[in-house]
Amino acid sequence: MNVLLLGSGGREHAIAIALAKSRRLRELFVAPGNPGMLSLGRAVALDVTDHSAVANFCKLMAIDLVVVGPEAPLVAGIVDDLAVAGIKAFGPSKAAAQLEGSKGFTKEFCARYKIPTAAYALFSDAASATAYVREKGAPIVIKADGLASGKGVVVAMSLDEAEAAIEAMFAGGFGQAGPAGGQRTIVVEEFLEGEEASFFALCDGARAVAFASAQDHKRLGEGERGPNTGGMGAYSPAPVMDAPMSLRVMREIIEPTLQGMAEMGMPFKGVLFAGLMIGEAGPKLIEFNVRFGDPETQVMLPRLEEDLLALMLACVEGNLPQPPLRLSPLTALSVVLAAKGYPEAPQKGSEILGLARAQAMPFVTITHAGTKVEGTRLLANGGRVLNVTGLGADVVEARARAYAAIDAIDWPQGFCRRDIGWRALQRL
Ligand code: AMP
Ligand code: GLY
Repeated sequence: MNVLLLGSGGREHAIAIALAKSRRLRELFVAPGNPGMLSLGRAVALDVTDHSAVANFCKLMAIDLVVVGPEAPLVAGIVDDLAVAGIKAFGPSKAAAQLEGSKGFTKEFCARYKIPTAAYALFSDAASATAYVREKGAPIVIKADGLASGKGVVVAMSLDEAEAAIEAMFAGGFGQAGPAGGQRTIVVEEFLEGEEASFFALCDGARAVAFASAQDHKRLGEGERGPNTGGMGAYSPAPVMDAPMSLRVMREIIEPTLQGMAEMGMPFKGVLFAGLMIGEAGPKLIEFNVRFGDPETQVMLPRLEEDLLALMLACVEGNLPQPPLRLSPLTALSVVLAAKGYPEAPQKGSEILGLARAQAMPFVTITHAGTKVEGTRLLANGGRVLNVTGLGADVVEARARAYAAIDAIDWPQGFCRRDIGWRALQRL
C-alpha cells in the first residue's frame, strides 16, 4: 500500500516508524514530515488546508490510505473531503471530530449518554459566567469552547483567577472562536480531583478496541511547576490504568461514546484519546481528543506488537478485529528535549551533535519534533525539538535508558525535565 502521512511532529515520526514495519507498506509519503522521517518516507510539500490539492496528490501517487496526525485537518473535515474523492483516510469525519473540536458538544454528549465527566455549564456572556462561578466557588475550571492548542483551559484556584479567565476568554485572549476574535461560548466546570491518565482506543465506527494507556507531564518545570506545555515527557503504560480500570473505562466511557456517536449519525472512526481523571468514584472524562497524543504516541507505538497499518485500515473499513491487541509488557518512557526559551520564545538555529551516538544505544528511539537540516548540520527549529524514548522492563530501566541517551547528545542550548516518570516511580 502507498500511504500519505500528514504532520511534522514527534508523534508523526513515531507513526512513520511503526508504519515502516508493516509488510503491507509499499511507499510512505510524509507531508510535510521532518528531517527524522526522511529515511522512512518521501517528503512532499502539500498545503494540508487545501483538501482538493491533497486529494489530487493522492490520485496521482495512487495513495491507498491517508493517515492524519494532528487534529486541525480532522476538525476542518479533511476525511470527509477525501472520502468524496474516493480516498480512504484514518481519522474521524468532521462531525465526529467535534468530540475534540467543541468542548460544548462533548459536554452535552456526555450528559445525553451518561458518560461520567465533571459537572458543567455553558455560557455565552461574561456576566452570567461570573455569576455562576461566584455561586459555585473555587477551585473551578474555565475552558474555551473551540480548539486552542491546549491553551484554552484555566484551572482557577481562586475566584479572582476564575473571573479574570472569563474576561480574557470573551475578550479574545484564548483563540478566535467568536466574531470579535473572542470566544462565543465558554464551559465552566467542576474541579476534579484524582490522578490524570490518558487512554487510547481504536474505533471502526461501531466497535472500539483498547489500545494503550499513558501519562504525560504537561508542566514545564520539575515537580509539576511552571506553565502548561504541549507535554515534556510521557510513559506507557500508566500504572493507575491497570486491567480492571481499563475495562471500566472501556465500558463506562469508550463504548457508550461509540454507541452514542453512531446513534447520532456520526460514527467515530480513528483513534479516540480519552483524557481521564481517576478519582475515588472511578474514572471521569476530562476531555476527548480525536487523534493520537504527542508525546504519548512516542511511548505507546514502541510497545505495539501488531501491524499498525493493518489496524488503521481496519478502522477505516469498519472491520476492526476484536481480540485484544498484542502489546509488549515493557515500559516506554520518553523525555522531551526542548530549546531554551520554550514555551514563550524558543531559540532556534543552535546545532545538535551526538545524535547518531545516542540513537545507536540499545532500546532507545529518538524522534524529531522541531529540527531542520542545513548542509550536514542538524539544527533546532522549534520549541519541542527531540523526543528521546527508552524501552525497559520497568519504568526504572526505561527511564535510565532515556536519560543515558540524552546525556550522549551534545546540545547545550537544549533542556529537559529530569523527573519524567516520578509518579510511576513513587508507586514502586
Ligand atoms: P484539557 O485541555 O481539557 O485536557 O485540560 C488541560 C488540563 O487542565 C488537564 O490535563 C487537567 O490537568 C486540567 N483540567 C482540565 N479540566 C479539569 C477539571 N475539570 N478538573 C481538574 N483539572 C482539570
Ligand atoms: N499530550 C497531549 C495531547 O496530545 O493532546
